[in-house]
Amino acid sequence: MKVARIYLLLHVILTASVLVNTFDPITTTVVVGIGATLGRTIYKYFKESCNPQWIAFNATGLQKDLDSKLFGQHIASRIVLKAVNGFMNNDNPKKPLVLSLHGWTGTGKNFVSKLIAENIYKEGMDSSFVHVFTSELHFPHASEIETYKSQLQQWIKGNVTNCAHSMFIFDEMDKMHPGLIDSIKPYLDYYDKLDGVSYRKAMFIFLSNAGGESIIQTALDFWRDGRDRNEIELHDLETALSLSVFNNKKSGLWHTSLIDKNLVDFFVPFLPLEYKHVVQCAMAEMEARGFDPDKDVADQVAKDVIYFPKTERVFSVKGCKTIESKLDYYI
Ligand SMILES: Nc1ncnc2c1ncn2[C@@H]1O[C@H](COP(=O)(O)OP(=O)(O)OP(=O)(O)O)[C@@H](O)[C@H]1O
Ligand SMILES: *[C@@H]1O[C@H](CO)[C@@H](O)[C@H](O)[C@H]1NC(C)=O
Ligand SMILES: *[C@@H]1O[C@H](CO)[C@@H](O)[C@H](O)[C@H]1NC(C)=O
Ligand SMILES: [Mg+2]
Repeated sequence: MKVARIYLLLHVILTASVLVNTFDPITTTVVVGIGATLGRTIYKYFKESCNPQWIAFNATGLQKDLDSKLFGQHIASRIVLKAVNGFMNNDNPKKPLVLSLHGWTGTGKNFVSKLIAENIYKEGMDSSFVHVFTSELHFPHASEIETYKSQLQQWIKGNVTNCAHSMFIFDEMDKMHPGLIDSIKPYLDYYDKLDGVSYRKAMFIFLSNAGGESIIQTALDFWRDGRDRNEIELHDLETALSLSVFNNKKSGLWHTSLIDKNLVDFFVPFLPLEYKHVVQCAMAEMEARGFDPDKDVADQVAKDVIYFPKTERVFSVKGCKTIESKLDYYI
């Protein structure tokens, strides 16, 4: 349908430019004017804008992606689906949605953020309404914290003013300066409006490794007791997570009152990945590259990965993170 429309519009413009050569200046002006209007129409049609043509939540799509693409994260999958569904189906949310994703490296935190973005924005992570901030990239120098603070506040305000359904992803949240986190707190709270701008339809996602060790300890306890990993429930992790994260005075994240003020709506724990998940990641990667997934190759890749603790070798040290590059050696 899109192609047919471009074709038609181009045809009209080309015809118009042929006409321009054969008519007097007044007609020329008119025709050029029409051409410019058409040009703008085409441009608007293809330029991403803040409307349902470009921003539409697909609940089925998110469920399907979490079920089929995310491995070994039954708790995270359930919480994310519930949280995003509830928020996106609410026409009048009382506050922006704030998710805090925690877990060991390579367990799927960025990956899940991407799946969420892809099922809300047509352009996914490339959308101009999705903003990713990494402390090391965007806010590297502690001495410039005051500049960063006002810059970040202006960015959030400017972007939410442009589009209420904006998404902000803060990667490596545990490396973020506490002052910087403090500066975004007002936007996460239950305000009707701040300076005439409502932030209630925005979404904030925080990613960190904070609490990763305590999640691993729980997963390891289950494993040692011979219990199924899928039996781990949120409340099994919550106590350990809150002790290690919320009381860890070393972590920048928790110097702030983000938690006691209940500004985070959902804490989402990511479990460490086992051999079988690494195999699944390798199979998925082969498929993504257009190969027939080969179980033998996937096994080879998974065997090449390092596991911990040293004695039992249950969990992948880097999760699924290096699978992509490892695969190059085998195919
Ligand atoms: N649970 C998972 N299911 C499927 N694929 C995964 C999973 N975890 C990781 N991957 C794969 O590994 C890649 C790296 O994972 P990701 O970047 O999401 O890790 P992370 O949790 O953000 O780690 P870090 O804490 O180091 O930033 C992903 O792009 C994805 O391809
Ligand atoms: C939503 O996702 C499903 C499953 O991926 C897909 O079949 C469907 O076309 C999507 N709907 C829209 C409106 O994009
Ligand atoms: C939106 O955020 C980006 C950073 O992701 C920033 O570069 C841009 O200036 C912001 N836009 C406005 C209008 O503030
Ligand atoms: Mg990450």
